[in-house]
Amino acid sequence: MSDTSGAQSKATDSESPPQYVRIGASEEIPERGRKLVATAGTEIAIFRLQGELYALENYCAHFGGPACQGKIINRVVEILDVDKASHGLTFSETDVHVVCPWHGYEYNITTGEHAVKKDIKLRTFNVSEHDGDVIVEI
Ligand code: FES
Repeated sequence: MSDTSGAQSKATDSESPPQYVRIGASEEIPERGRKLVATAGTEIAIFRLQGELYALENYCAHFGGPACQGKIINRVVEILDVDKASHGLTFSETDVHVVCPWHGYEYNITTGEHAVKKDIKLRTFNVSEHDGDVIVEI
């Protein structure tokens, strides 16, 4: 589960300047892949979607489950016509979620927001790539 190779682990508080933590090599996170690391007193999952990286805390807003270790699935959406008549369900092309394995809370990977209740969200972190390395700002 955890890989702290190369990471600079150090606990932080809200008044500390940001730390830039090397998570690993870019190639370790393929499209629709993820890497989970333990650093700075928490667990962070880094996902790659459509070439972009997103970092979310692996701590479910429901009961603290490992939200980022669940299935990665495109959101199910209903196809409606102009009269709001349903034409069945399909998967969103762009809205990708991770599903907490404990009780099924779904979070948008790009925002950390719960699928329905937007006021519920996973903590997010800035993440970037430099010279083939993945760097998370904590
Ligand atoms: S702890 Fe994640 S859904 Fe309950």
